[in-house]
Amino acid sequence: MQDLEPVRARTLARIAAAGDEAAIEALRVAALGKKGEISLMMRGLGKMTPDERRQAGPRLNALKDEINAAIAARKAALGDAALAERLETEWLDVTLAPRPIAQGTIHPVSQVMEEVIAIFADLGFAVAEGPQIETDWYNFDALNISPEHPARQEMDTFYMARAEGDERPAHVLRTHTSPVQIRYMEEHGVPCRIIAPGRVYRCDYDQTHTPMFHQYEGLAIDREISMANLKWVLEEFCRAFFEVEGVELRFRASHFPFTEPSAEVDIRCSWAGGQLKIGEGDDWMEILGSGMVHPDVLEAVGVDPKVWQGFAFGMGIDRIAMLKYGIPDLRAFFDSDLRWLRHYGFAALDMPTLHGGLSA
Ligand code: PHE
Repeated sequence: MQDLEPVRARTLARIAAAGDEAAIEALRVAALGKKGEISLMMRGLGKMTPDERRQAGPRLNALKDEINAAIAARKAALGDAALAERLETEWLDVTLAPRPIAQGTIHPVSQVMEEVIAIFADLGFAVAEGPQIETDWYNFDALNISPEHPARQEMDTFYMARAEGDERPAHVLRTHTSPVQIRYMEEHGVPCRIIAPGRVYRCDYDQTHTPMFHQYEGLAIDREISMANLKWVLEEFCRAFFEVEGVELRFRASHFPFTEPSAEVDIRCSWAGGQLKIGEGDDWMEILGSGMVHPDVLEAVGVDPKVWQGFAFGMGIDRIAMLKYGIPDLRAFFDSDLRWLRHYGFAALDMPTLHGGLSA
């Protein structure tokens, strides 16, 4: 019988050095598997004399047991080490307060602006912007509102303070987004098709008015644009935006210095029980002013009104947000009350698209 000590020492050393379960299993097969080193030696017992067998048998069995025990011990040690490592890295302090979860929401005004932009982008309108602090000329004169025009008083304009003796024309907080019509045509000329969303300011405060609110201006100038195009665009917009069957619009003849003819548009709604609902009831809420751009406005930006014509409109973003989402008081939009924001806010990742659903 050969000396078992080298086999024993080698096998035990390898087991002790094995780094994972797979390595241990490979060593077990190499030693004790069907064709393993020790198994083959045991098979050799049959060819031995009874004397030899009496000596070798117990020694081989003892070695087999020792190797099995070493394997079990190594496996356990590896398991302990893995557990120790996890315990080291994956601990949790249960005495800490719960981690804050993301709580911000998209304000209904931002949501509605995105919805409006998505709808008009589909109709081929680009987005334009202008400053909130305007000169008299852009906010009034260029829009055919002369200094004596009553509209200057009607608009409840906020004038910027001027230094003593400063005779330059006053700056104003823009009272509407219409000055963006002027700025856009000055810079880009015609034809054009834009919407211009943004903040506007008027000294007014009640359930449906706040001193700062949001409008978006629409402007389409080309050679053959008519009032019929205006009406179609507005109806198309309302159908897409309100996502309800049977939104009813009312076009009312009106007057703006910068359009001729002019129309204001109201939408049928109900305030019953403090709830604001569209498409039903006997009330009407005004949502926009509109009309065909006045020739004087085109002339103010050097566009020939004999060649070019088009429509413009200005719509209240907060108003249509109130109507669509049933929010009865405009003042709450700007109170920054967290409970209100959580209730009416939108999830940050739900970007409105026409194909994916505007407000879904
Ligand atoms: N600027 C007008 C307002 O704020 C709305 C309007 C825009 C009307 C464009 C006609 C054309 O009331």
